[in-house]
Amino acid sequence: MNSQTSYESEVLITEKTYSVIEKENKLMSYTTRVPYYPLVVDSARGSIVTDIEGNKFIDFLSSAAVVNTGHNHPKIVRAINEQVGKFIHYTPAYLYHEPHIKLAEKLIEITPGDFEKRVAFGLSGSSSVDGAIKAARCYKGRNKIISFLRSYHGTTYGALSVSGYGVEMRNKINPMMPDVEFIPYPDCFRCLYNQEYPSCNLTCLRYFQNLLKTVVPPEEVAAIIMEPIQGDAGIIIPPQEYYDKLREICRQYNILIIADEVQTGFGRTGKMFACEHFNLEPDIIVLGKAIASGMPLSAMVAKKEIFESWNAPVHFFNTAGNAISCSAAVATIDVLKEEKLVDNANIQGDYIINRFKSLMEKYDCIGDVRGKGLLIGVDIVKNKSSKERDVAKTAKICWRCWEKGLILAFFSGSVLRVAPPLNLSSEEAEKAMNIIEESIREVEEGLVSDEVLEQIKGW
Ligand SMILES: Cc1ncc(COP(=O)(O)O)c(C=O)c1O
Repeated sequence: MNSQTSYESEVLITEKTYSVIEKENKLMSYTTRVPYYPLVVDSARGSIVTDIEGNKFIDFLSSAAVVNTGHNHPKIVRAINEQVGKFIHYTPAYLYHEPHIKLAEKLIEITPGDFEKRVAFGLSGSSSVDGAIKAARCYKGRNKIISFLRSYHGTTYGALSVSGYGVEMRNKINPMMPDVEFIPYPDCFRCLYNQEYPSCNLTCLRYFQNLLKTVVPPEEVAAIIMEPIQGDAGIIIPPQEYYDKLREICRQYNILIIADEVQTGFGRTGKMFACEHFNLEPDIIVLGKAIASGMPLSAMVAKKEIFESWNAPVHFFNTAGNAISCSAAVATIDVLKEEKLVDNANIQGDYIINRFKSLMEKYDCIGDVRGKGLLIGVDIVKNKSSKERDVAKTAKICWRCWEKGLILAFFSGSVLRVAPPLNLSSEEAEKAMNIIEESIREVEEGLVSDEVLEQIKGW
């Protein structure tokens, strides 16, 4: 595999793996794949993934922040098995069942906001983002939605229309849903205005205020949709002041706040929901990914009156609120609480951030280390002063990590994505960080050939 590189891979890959990949390439639409490395999953437990060759990997990706409780947590597997033994699904649109009611009760209890709430289920984060847009428009009787440049909210037409991730996602499939306006996200590392916080006086927010004064009548705006910490853009954390002022603007003009917690929810950031870091109580909160530890499910939790404004069946999916997914989700919340996984996210997250910060002192290619809990981004740059993204180096680091037994991905072109399961042990965290440290050193020494860039593309 690495005949052109000046070292041996520690991971053994044979024809067995390549034949699976070749077969997939012949069968699947290319749109579903973000290529990283040839890893065909055979089994997974906790933070360890085993491929079909028998190689074992520490998982620093958690299936893209989905398995917060670790792979195949026994309590979640048991909950799924027990439900399978009773019935798989009966649509809650026509009849009633208890798992989805139990889950709704728990979601209302754990989500921020001391007000009466209601829940609506979906099948994916995207479907619930669509629901949030519909609910906001119905309730406010207004059309416009404000979203953020570089945001990612999913791939259904509604979710894509409020995503500002990149033109390649829209190219050839326009037009999008109308009445969406984009504003800059408060990205203090790569400020669009080349300013620094706090001397910038939040220029990015003043752009929004200006927009409401000059182009978009505020009485036409239903809601602003926001990732509390921008995820796929590379883990961008706004300053508290931004939220304080944004809330004031929304109050002044009666604009709803939709928090997309699909990636940040369920303990990922060291609080149950990232909004809690900023004292933010959104009118609508969108949940997905980790909600059911990998079973398909998403949800919206909103102020009761918002959901009273729409008619059935304006937001309905036959298998949403599936009994097995709901049982898995109830068990997921129980496991997060019983095993204090949110606390562990902070403990392991602090350790990982500190290790990266000391690497940052040593290597000019580490431009920034950002994160909360176990949602961490490490910005790989050509040098610290230019902050220019080093896409090739980022890809090579991830590739080398895979060769050493660590699943590490990247997004936003040049940001290492650190998102292990929340029950990662201290030993696993240390071992993974040793692999990352060695990989960065080897890439810096030029040991990893450019050839690998033909395979690893990233997000
Ligand atoms: C913040 C955010 N919102 C929405 C989505 C879409 O979720 P799904 O892929 O389940 O539709 C994602 C997925 O990555 C996400 O990160």
